[in-house]
Amino acid sequence: MAAPLRLGIAGLGTVGIGVVKIVQRHADLIAARTGREVVITAVCARDKTRNRDADLSAYAWESDPVALARRPDVDLFIEVMGGSEGPARLATEAAIAAGKDVVTANKALLAHHGQALAEAAEKAGRVIRFEAAVAGGIPVIKALTEGLAGNAIRRVMGVMNGTCNYILTRMEDAGLPYAQVFEEARQLGYLEADPNLDVGGIDAAHKLSLLAAIAFGTRVSFDAVEMEGIGAISIDDIRHAADMEYRIKLLGVAQLTGRGLEQRMTPCLVPMESPLGQLQGGTNMVVLEGDSVGQIVLRGAGAGEGPTASAVMGDVMDIARGLRLATFGQPATGLAVPVAAAVATPAAWYLRVTLVDKPGALAKIAAALGEAGISIDRMRQYTHQEGSARVLIVTHKATRDDVTDALSRFGATGVVLGEPVALRIEDV
Ligand code: HSE
Repeated sequence: MAAPLRLGIAGLGTVGIGVVKIVQRHADLIAARTGREVVITAVCARDKTRNRDADLSAYAWESDPVALARRPDVDLFIEVMGGSEGPARLATEAAIAAGKDVVTANKALLAHHGQALAEAAEKAGRVIRFEAAVAGGIPVIKALTEGLAGNAIRRVMGVMNGTCNYILTRMEDAGLPYAQVFEEARQLGYLEADPNLDVGGIDAAHKLSLLAAIAFGTRVSFDAVEMEGIGAISIDDIRHAADMEYRIKLLGVAQLTGRGLEQRMTPCLVPMESPLGQLQGGTNMVVLEGDSVGQIVLRGAGAGEGPTASAVMGDVMDIARGLRLATFGQPATGLAVPVAAAVATPAAWYLRVTLVDKPGALAKIAAALGEAGISIDRMRQYTHQEGSARVLIVTHKATRDDVTDALSRFGATGVVLGEPVALRIEDV
């Protein structure tokens, strides 16, 4: 049997402890499958005294992750601390410089520094794997990098922040406003320390930018992701969307077209009966479309101890087996610099407007849409209440610019009350 693979784990939170438990529980299974023992030699966390749900007494303790990364008895550095800068970045760089392979769950680190880290790793002959960084337990990096390697990828979509999906589905199921469900999520411990990472779409956008790099052979381009959170989604729009047979999701979409690379992480409508429309609670879903394979739908837990540690161990075991893949599926120096699409692919749109109750009001709205070059597919008007009525319009495909034009024309009609709402309907 080959020499044991020696792990150093930086970070003993939910994910790190999950990894410790799998290594301890499945030592025989891991050795049988990889042909070598996988052992933990050293661990690191901020607070040694904290009571943790695992026996760590057999492992050397380091308080500095950089020191852990440099230990001669560590072959593989596991970074499960999080954060795009500071200790996570320093320790990952130190591990590569010290000739260690790296497995990380850190989407923020790779979204911001993935290109530089991948190039450094390749120069040093080391690998960085990051299955746990995207959609928790769903093996989507493996699916894209290996199983679908023979496909030109057309589009990648995903609901990749379980907290947002929990909030949106709970709002719909319980008929509760956003602020109340946000507070519930906070009390349940679902939100990141900085909740804007979740509800602002940043965490999910980090993940999307990593998938796009693999899918399209482009450098990670997180800054170019069009991003909008779920904070402005009202229970009214969730209900009205349902009346039109749609659900609202914080949906990531990446596609490379003649216009360039499109990356969006925005609230979108999807058909209620589609797999994405059916996704409930904190679960994640990733949809991959390849030219040969067609559409693949992957669904599973996007966070939590077991699922995230499972993804880390998949990477660890690949390295134990000797599988050494480039970080983004091809040499980092060969990744293209993406050109961000100036105009997104046209889509159908959901528009909600509140109209004053006077003759010709609806006609004025229809005319404004016509002047903006937008054709109406479906429309629904609700009963008037106190002199106004809500109107929902589903358009035929239109660009964002056309919709913006239409909304400004609405303002000039003098029949629209309040701010209209416009949400993209993704063709899934
Ligand atoms: N906070 C994330 C989520 C998990 O809610 O899905 C970590 O990326």
